Amino acid sequence: MDRAASPSLAARADDLQQSDIRSVTRRVEEVDGINLGQGVCDLPTPEPIKARAHQAIRDDASIYSHYAGIEPLRRAILEKEQAHNEVPATSPEDVVVGVGSTGVFVSAAFTLLEDGDEVVLFEPFYGYHRNILELTGATIRYVPLGGPDATFDRSAMEAVLTDDTKAVVVNTPANPSGKVWTREELSTLAGLLHAHDLVAITDEIYEYMLYDGAEHVSLASLPGAYERTITLSGFSKAYNVTGWRLGYGVAPAPIAEKIGLMNDLLYICAPRPLQHAALAAFEDLDDDYVAQLQADYAERRELLCETLEAIGFDVPWPDGAYYVLAHFGDLAGTQAGFADDAAACDTLIEDAHIGSVTGRSFYHDPADGQHELRLCFAKELPVLRRACEQLRAAFGG
Ligand SMILES: Cc1ncc(COP(=O)(O)O)c(C=O)c1O
Repeated sequence: MDRAASPSLAARADDLQQSDIRSVTRRVEEVDGINLGQGVCDLPTPEPIKARAHQAIRDDASIYSHYAGIEPLRRAILEKEQAHNEVPATSPEDVVVGVGSTGVFVSAAFTLLEDGDEVVLFEPFYGYHRNILELTGATIRYVPLGGPDATFDRSAMEAVLTDDTKAVVVNTPANPSGKVWTREELSTLAGLLHAHDLVAITDEIYEYMLYDGAEHVSLASLPGAYERTITLSGFSKAYNVTGWRLGYGVAPAPIAEKIGLMNDLLYICAPRPLQHAALAAFEDLDDDYVAQLQADYAERRELLCETLEAIGFDVPWPDGAYYVLAHFGDLAGTQAGFADDAAACDTLIEDAHIGSVTGRSFYHDPADGQHELRLCFAKELPVLRRACEQLRAAFGG
């Protein structure tokens, strides 16, 4: 469009641009490469879930649902959160089904935050969290929290708290670092929520992707924390339905009700037939499904981490999720094409036909990510094997 003739847009739209992740996707496609950049898992959707979707469409389950989701699904989620996450939710009224966990995050953020508020976000962060929080008008206060072993530092968070701080966003297991918050860290955080009258939004979308015995703990399960926590999770990652856009939030009913109404305002409801299909995740798939998923991802993690180490990256192996935030500070000094994250990302595309994400995407100060790349191992095993062979062929190891 001719810029001079284009209508003026809201600042929030003017500031939007295609993320680096999408442009890497395009360039990787141009060289017919393998994209380990975007966190899109290309594994097949489990048959029972697909079968129920077909059935629901045949049954004409096609009209809007309640804005917080169909009752049987809300009840199934409630029971899962009680049994698996030990979250003391008491009724389906505590559950909101939305357009992906992202949709519920948007509704929760707009329910909680407005101009003049402050919200704490840990770094490295997931870009959507930062961008959505910015849309609310709240000011983001960043607290550094490094790789999988970096411990949550109470004083680092206290240092950014002001009278205007209203909320904190936690992501465990975390994208991109793979950090899994420990019970102790979450207890410390719960203490801060009380002391400073804060609400937490916890994004637990990777709750089933855990390695080396790491335990997923929901903040809301800790004594007294439920009243101040909005717990988010969903179906995208665990059941390979990222494009279905189905997720959920759990919070005390008065908060959940407002998030549901915000959902209604923004999207009306999550896709109706797919809500019926999601019931299969609870009714037709058992613990064996999760055990198999964990074993499959553990194998992929090992393959990618060992490959990256072999070609000279310093790799903090993730305890959870399905990304590696690999460091290449050593290569930056010794190998051409690795001067910084943008150069390294280009080099991986050009020399190995592999897509990755630049470290700067995960920090408000790009310099903090200048020697990091994120790679995703949620790929079919033969594809991931080929990607690793391409990396070894291009960079030795
Ligand atoms: C931390 C995190 N939260 C949420 C999402 C998206 O989840 P959903 O598909 O449920 O919106 C992603 C996807 O990459 C993610 O990494």
